Amino acid sequence: MRVEGWQAAGLSFGGRIELVQSVISAIALFWLQSIMVPLATIRKIEGICAKFIWHGGIHAISWEQLCRPRKEGGVGLRSLVSVREAAGIKLAWRFLQDGSPWSAWMASRYLRGRNFWVCEIDNNFSVPFKHILRNRTVLRTAIRRKMREGGEMDLWLDPWISGQSLLEILGPQTDGVAYRGLTCRHIISGGVWRPEEYRFTAQLGEEIRQVQITPTVLSDVWVWAPPGHSEGAGEFRFRSCYDLVRPHFDDIEEYDFVWGKGLARKMQLSAYKLVLGRLLTRDRLLRFGVPVPDPKCVLCETENESIGHLFFQCHVTWSIWAEQSRRHLGGVGRERDFREILKWIGDCRGHEQSWARRARLRLAASVWHVWRERNRRIYEGLSTPPVSILHNIESDVLVMSP
Ligand SMILES: *[C@@H]1O[C@H](CO)[C@@H](O)[C@H](O)[C@H]1NC(C)=O
Ligand SMILES: *[C@@H]1O[C@H](CO)[C@@H](O)[C@H](O)[C@H]1NC(C)=O
Ligand SMILES: *[C@@H]1O[C@H](CO)[C@@H](O)[C@H](O)[C@H]1NC(C)=O
Ligand SMILES: [Zn+2]
Repeated sequence: MRVEGWQAAGLSFGGRIELVQSVISAIALFWLQSIMVPLATIRKIEGICAKFIWHGGIHAISWEQLCRPRKEGGVGLRSLVSVREAAGIKLAWRFLQDGSPWSAWMASRYLRGRNFWVCEIDNNFSVPFKHILRNRTVLRTAIRRKMREGGEMDLWLDPWISGQSLLEILGPQTDGVAYRGLTCRHIISGGVWRPEEYRFTAQLGEEIRQVQITPTVLSDVWVWAPPGHSEGAGEFRFRSCYDLVRPHFDDIEEYDFVWGKGLARKMQLSAYKLVLGRLLTRDRLLRFGVPVPDPKCVLCETENESIGHLFFQCHVTWSIWAEQSRRHLGGVGRERDFREILKWIGDCRGHEQSWARRARLRLAASVWHVWRERNRRIYEGLSTPPVSILHNIESDVLVMSP
């Protein structure tokens, strides 16, 4: 099995991620957004992309993880599976747009007067229409009805009260016979809600009065209003739709360390792998079954190599960091662990924000240089003395600092 080598021919890891990113954007934009592509095809494409990113070697970080936004621990690749999901929502949204011949035809063929929101899925519905109906639940969380007189909304079945229908609010056990077949127009007059005549509870009456009537629209329209997104003024936006369907995760604490302003890309990616604990140190290679001639750390040549050892238990690495820290940060934290050092930087009060930023840049640059030194020793048989490494870090920090 090939290991993702330091000197892997051609593009670097970061370069390969960027290339895949643009290929995926093109696929998403020109293909997936307009037709439903089978899931198996999508997974195949994603598999090819992942293989390319890892250069045919060990996939140290799963594809799903890479596809998370940077804040949530990914590198911000777009998941084609989620793009496909969003395309399904887009299809359902298009169906809801009144007036298109396609939706009129679908409605007359399959709905036949039944209400879109409660219609059960028949076996003989076409595949796209089944897809639309299965995506109703998610769709309704992202849309809102802009009403003029509420004329077209079914009083009982349509979700017109903050995204819910009367049927859902009152429950199916309620006898809705008094409301069946009515539209919202029946409880609007002179541009205001008149729920009194229908004996709603006071609370429900109040909720109904909260539903906005917009006299300026020509007729009722659906507007695209997913939670947390305000752009677009009601127009469909694929980006917010993607955001709606993609999986969400907690933010990572080390975001500034990895993706903060100024850090060179190659350093971002070594910091990223370090934060996730996915650098392929010799202990991990052994666990993946890769034959490693010697489990020892090539810097100190005494202890076994692991991420914890390299960053920063190893006395060689530690000497490089401690020297800089003394010189530029006015001290050295006690713990020889990169997370603890990050915490120490964050806890150093009395400095400007730019101080912490520079300190994090310095730490990330040190990580990259140590990792590079380790790779050069292993794969190229070259070795640089710590003094020169220190010097190289200094000049990189100088270039990156504000
Ligand atoms: C689908 O099947 C139902 C009965 O289950 C039938 O009433 C309807 O006509 C069929 N629709 C189409 C489009 O074939
Ligand atoms: C949309 O419908 C398809 C089934 O056709 C389903 O696999 C998918 O999960 C649905 N998407 C959402 C966001 O509910
Ligand atoms: C170092 O790694 C080797 C091989 O995995 C193992 O046999 C040895 O016990 C390890 N030494 C220490 C100190 O952990
Ligand atoms: Zn060591």
